[in-house]
Amino acid sequence: MQLVRSVKELRALSDGARAAGRRVALVATMGALHDGHLALVALARRRADLVIVSIFVNPTQFGPSEDLASYPRTLDADLARCRAADVDAVFAPAAAELYPDGAQTFVEVAELAKPLCGASRPAFFRGVATVVTKLLAAARPHLAVFGEKDFQQLQVVRRLARDLLLDVEVVGAPIVREADGLAMSSRNVYLDAAMRAEALALVRALDAAEAAALAGERSAAVLLEQVRKEIGRAPHAKIDYAELRDPETLAERALIEGPALLAVAVRLPAPRAASGEVRLIDNRVLLRRRDAEDPPR
Ligand code: PAJ
Repeated sequence: MQLVRSVKELRALSDGARAAGRRVALVATMGALHDGHLALVALARRRADLVIVSIFVNPTQFGPSEDLASYPRTLDADLARCRAADVDAVFAPAAAELYPDGAQTFVEVAELAKPLCGASRPAFFRGVATVVTKLLAAARPHLAVFGEKDFQQLQVVRRLARDLLLDVEVVGAPIVREADGLAMSSRNVYLDAAMRAEALALVRALDAAEAAALAGERSAAVLLEQVRKEIGRAPHAKIDYAELRDPETLAERALIEGPALLAVAVRLPAPRAASGEVRLIDNRVLLRRRDAEDPPR
């Protein structure tokens, strides 16, 4: 496995593979790798010949009061996990490599970035869209894999790839959970045992709403009331948002007639985090049509 630090080296690697007729995949991460990230790698491995994992804690997607400084950085462990997962190259650039001196160009996905996480983190998707565009420009992959854990981010990336005519297939990968249902996240390390237990309210809320939808409930108001009730059982959890939206356009839904994205974000006290709290997100597509998620090549 190669550790690549410069865009120049990365391009040489990717272009060489392309010239040899090999398919190139990119898995973009901020490191602190867990089994959720590794599931993306495994999907990329099945679909491509050269698998590149990028590890870059992107400063432009963190707000001024967010956890950029304290975000977990575990490069040695990450490299070991990538090696074990048969990754071909890890791209771990310094910030100046992706943001050259005086950089002043940003990518904004106007509408999809507004609701949900965009409402409480105003600069977040601008930072994500910008860095993902740069990573795609640097790695020139045939496909790029993103997790449904960050469902809105996945749709923002799909949209920018289409709008900017980028010749890349954006592939979504299902959410990977801990044994008790908590969605894996690099930020879970901020939770102490008591808050880790309260965090399970998120997945219980999704389960309850999904059960109700499957039993025939179609009213978003009723389903969201159920979500709020479940999260209310966790005394320290504060709801940031709980919404039902169209999975493609992210338009709000009052009635669910087909697949509907139920997306939830909560804040929990977390003394280990610099800000004293941690924000957890989770989601489920209700009434989802189960078609092939990982078609063979
Ligand atoms: P990060 O949070 O490290 O996540 C990297 C990728 O792993 C994203 O596509 C995310 O959706 C996916 N992922 C994280 N936890 C997951 C889980 N439990 N199940 C499935 N997939 C999961 O998302 C980012 O980094 C950044 O915003 C990035 C896209 C790298 C841009 O900086």
